[in-house]
Amino acid sequence: MEINKSGATFSSIVGIGAKIKKMMEETGEEYLFLNRGINAVCSINLTEVIRLIDFNSAGIQVYPPNKGLPELREAINQEYFDGKSHVDNIAIVPGGMSAIDSVVQILDLDIVYFSKYFWGSYQKLCMIRGVESSTFENLKSFVQTVKDLRKSETTNPKKIAVLLCDPNNPVGNKLDDVEMLNHIKVLTEMDVIVIFDSPYRRLFYDSNDILYQELLQLKNLIITESFSKTMGLSGQRIGFIHSTDKAFNDELNVRLLYAFNGVNAFAQELVLKLLTSPEGKKAVSDFKKKTVEDVTKNIQYLNKNNLLFNKLYEHTKPVGIFTVVNITEDELLKNKIGSVGMVYFTNDKTEEIRATSRICVSVPHEKFKLFFYKIRSVK
Ligand SMILES: Cc1ncc(COP(=O)(O)O)c(C=O)c1O
Repeated sequence: MEINKSGATFSSIVGIGAKIKKMMEETGEEYLFLNRGINAVCSINLTEVIRLIDFNSAGIQVYPPNKGLPELREAINQEYFDGKSHVDNIAIVPGGMSAIDSVVQILDLDIVYFSKYFWGSYQKLCMIRGVESSTFENLKSFVQTVKDLRKSETTNPKKIAVLLCDPNNPVGNKLDDVEMLNHIKVLTEMDVIVIFDSPYRRLFYDSNDILYQELLQLKNLIITESFSKTMGLSGQRIGFIHSTDKAFNDELNVRLLYAFNGVNAFAQELVLKLLTSPEGKKAVSDFKKKTVEDVTKNIQYLNKNNLLFNKLYEHTKPVGIFTVVNITEDELLKNKIGSVGMVYFTNDKTEEIRATSRICVSVPHEKFKLFFYKIRSVK
């Protein structure tokens, strides 16, 4: 069979997970899976919410509308934009991964940039879709690079997009909102398309967060979002794309039909109830509160015991759900802790980086301490 090879490789993170699972089965011992990218302090308690869903309804059993249930899109408008956007600007997609993929496919781009430490899928998605990608040191220097480039261009300005993830995966650091927004504004004014892909942000904020309302004002800005992290629902495969650009939204509408033919109606009803009903709002708020509590304690524990790779947190604060520790993947594994070496998250594969790993700190604090106790006494 002749196939179109993209050149992209399968996710190393998935491979590492399978290896640890095998070791656990072989030894019969417990491992702490900090290699994963999910919140595991607790699960969201859906008991009261499931009762509100009528499984016998047409809403669940037949094809959902192409861009998603209008009620869900309006609920997203209320939750993320204080009602200031419009359902027409919002499309439901099966998770954040497909959101980014759809955006990269639709935009006519020469190059996509992301930060020096990045979620590997950004690079792989660009490769599969045949778009060049590159990284920048920090947002401030990237703005300067684009300014210089734009000055030097006479005809055919380079068609650039940038993917921004804040708090960052893999570093778990958070930029100052005001500073970040200023940089985003300058970039969009220079015709750089900003794809704001920050699925960890809303774990730390509720609907009082005004950043999305500020982003709404900007042309050349697309938001890709996911309910995988903020609601602990990665199994439901649901997220959304927000754009105010009519041409983009028209093309998205067509592509969504032929790529997905609608997003799972149960997942949509579930998220709708979580966003709008008192029972749902409570379930989400309890989940976020407990998760953030333990994430914060775990980071404090790492900091107190000098286990953070401090170089990455000189100018920004680690908030989670990931952090980078100054311990190798092998050493962590010897102590039955799963992690992912930082070499998988950067093109900068120096000796210094090889000695560090990304861990997910979204696990119960007591368990975290138990596994790190031995490492702490060695370091
Ligand atoms: C930065 C970032 N964006 C998007 C996603 C996509 O998440 P999902 O496809 O589960 O919605 C992830 C998942 O790990 C991520 O880390």
